[in-house]
Amino acid sequence: MWRRRPGWRARHWSCLEWTLTDHGGTRLEIIPVEGLPEFRPGDDLTGAVVRAAPWLRSGDVVVVTSKIVSKAEGRLVTVPSDPEARDAARRKLVEEESVRVIARVARTLITQNHLGIVQAASGVDASNVERDEVALLPADPDASALALRNGLRERLGVEVAVVVTDTMGRAWRVGQTDAAIGSSGMRVLHSYEGKIDGQGNELAVTEVAVADEVAAAADLVKGKLGGMPIAIVRGLEIGDDTATARDLVRPVEEDLFRLGTNESIAQGRREAVPARRSVREFSHEPVAEESLRAAIASALTAPAPHHTHPVRFGWLRSRPQRDKLLEAMRDAWRADLVGDGFTEEQVAKRLSRGDILFNAPEVVVPFLVAEGAHTYPDARRNACEHTMFTVAGGAAVQGLLVALAAEGLGSCWIGSTIFAADIVRQTLGLDESWEPLGAVAIGHPLRAPEPREARDTGDGLVEL
Ligand SMILES: Cc1cc2nc3c(=O)[nH]c(=O)nc-3n(C[C@H](O)[C@H](O)[C@H](O)COP(=O)(O)O)c2cc1C
Repeated sequence: MWRRRPGWRARHWSCLEWTLTDHGGTRLEIIPVEGLPEFRPGDDLTGAVVRAAPWLRSGDVVVVTSKIVSKAEGRLVTVPSDPEARDAARRKLVEEESVRVIARVARTLITQNHLGIVQAASGVDASNVERDEVALLPADPDASALALRNGLRERLGVEVAVVVTDTMGRAWRVGQTDAAIGSSGMRVLHSYEGKIDGQGNELAVTEVAVADEVAAAADLVKGKLGGMPIAIVRGLEIGDDTATARDLVRPVEEDLFRLGTNESIAQGRREAVPARRSVREFSHEPVAEESLRAAIASALTAPAPHHTHPVRFGWLRSRPQRDKLLEAMRDAWRADLVGDGFTEEQVAKRLSRGDILFNAPEVVVPFLVAEGAHTYPDARRNACEHTMFTVAGGAAVQGLLVALAAEGLGSCWIGSTIFAADIVRQTLGLDESWEPLGAVAIGHPLRAPEPREARDTGDGLVEL
């Protein structure tokens, strides 16, 4: 709850107080540290705080704008004054300071830096510095916070906490707030896990980023125009010797939003084709009908000659009919293999490769129905026309496999029905014009397939 003290003035929010109901004290003061000098590389930050705030008390939280830490630690870089060259130099610094680009928003990069902090422009900033300079973030803001804390203990005999702040945007929210990028001497997180609220509900996930709240609260006093880079938060008793601002960085594997939306879409598109793998073992989890229908609907967008739609996907929904078809195909295959002179053992081994279609949760048989194909007076061109339609069928099947992978489903394209077209047509009661293009075994993968990136082009790309 916020309360104004008598004497509240618009310039300083120093007199704002609030009453806390749980973590921290019951009443806070936020006090500006007036009379600090303009900092330059090599300046003694601790000495300046000692001179400006000899009234510091143990338990105070000294909240310091990272810009003055950067300046005192010499993290200023001279850049050309020409706006274009300055911009290019800044962009280079942003890249150098980042380990990962999260998103690109117009000309601004949102990056993760080596400390794990996700921020616009890697924290490289041209405000409150000379016009031919930019400031980088302190190299190790937790260490900077600890050094100032130790210095104040030595020189003033006080046990304070120090928070180093920077201004950050927030996903989903308009506007920036200050957050803790360095911290020493205070608990940075306050967990309510297992605590019971006034209505008897158990809190399961609430974990308050107290150091960020302190940073934001102090910013109400410090402002952004440079005059007030330090404020003291008094009355918050949450001392902790081990916590640092690093604890506030969410590990990338727990981050549901580790890429910007546009970047996620681009990555999904890039990976859609190579991510498809032949999956030959499936779990018992049933395939959702909507997923299969959605994948087939995508696959039917494949290109085809003469604006035709020559592909049909036959979904073998009747188990007895699937078995009947596969058994008939197996008998014919066995006869072929025996005729080829294979031993019983060799025949059995080969036939077992067809088991996947018996075992897969779902099987779809793609067909080419070359309606709309042109007829020519000569056999050569008719054969070419048929090849053209066949490759269109292949494109649609590949589309199906990719779309299934995008639905999280595994699949394997099995060629056998191509060798048993008559049996397929007879068993399924289909017209002569229906040419099976194999069969697709579909299900949830028993094991997640190995991720795969696009291959080196190698011999596959010939520049003619
Ligand atoms: C037309 C066609 C027929 C295929 N037939 C079979 C098959 O009968 N049995 C099988 O296990 N895999 C079959 N495959 C899958 C290939 O073996 C597979 O694509 C290859 O091993 C590469 O693995 P990947 O799909 O994971 O990249 C076939 C693939 C195509 C395109």
